[in-house]
Amino acid sequence: MNEQNNDLFKKLGVDIGDGKINIDFKNPRDYTTDKHNRVDAAMIGGGAGMLMSPQPLMDTLKDIKSKSPNAHIVFMTPVAKRFTQNDAKRLANKEYIVLISGRYEGIDERVIELEVDEVFSIGDFILTGGELASMVVCDAISRNVSGVLGNNASLEVESFEDSLLEAPSFTKPNIYENKAIISEYLKGNHSKITDLKRGLALCKTKFFRPDLYKKV
Ligand code: ADE
Repeated sequence: MNEQNNDLFKKLGVDIGDGKINIDFKNPRDYTTDKHNRVDAAMIGGGAGMLMSPQPLMDTLKDIKSKSPNAHIVFMTPVAKRFTQNDAKRLANKEYIVLISGRYEGIDERVIELEVDEVFSIGDFILTGGELASMVVCDAISRNVSGVLGNNASLEVESFEDSLLEAPSFTKPNIYENKAIISEYLKGNHSKITDLKRGLALCKTKFFRPDLYKKV
């Protein structure tokens, strides 16, 4: 991590200094053997736009793997299964993850075949590049790494645990703009509150995510 990146991260408020998570960046352009420093080329067989060429990307990955042979290589692309909370939890146990962010129209398929362990989409829409997708995945994984969240209990009652969306939550004041919080929440009967929250979670899931509700 160079000084400039470190400063940038400090400015963005990302704590990378305590050793729980380390983030580094590699630029495939630093690895290109092209005399014009190119990392892209026209698609063969037709198609609009450019693709990331195999050589700079493969050499970047080979360099990473020579130092960290267990690196788990992930490519962010809309042409993949959707990234889920289960993936975030699973990947939080990996020691080293490489998130490849594609640019242009994507990357040469042979890189995926040769080096990529998993591919993920973050949704059915097209981003200009994979960077934002990588950042989303990085954040979702990081908060499942032990010690990153102040309170590990907050991981247990979150949306997508048991395929359910989380029940509505409230804080002070008890009445705000004439709206009261659900009165049962105030009565202190925890088993009753747990039952009620499960019922509300089921309602929310059925309404917003019928696809998830079918799994419950
Ligand atoms: N790159 C471009 N669009 C993407 C998406 N929806 N998910 C992951 N990577 C992407």
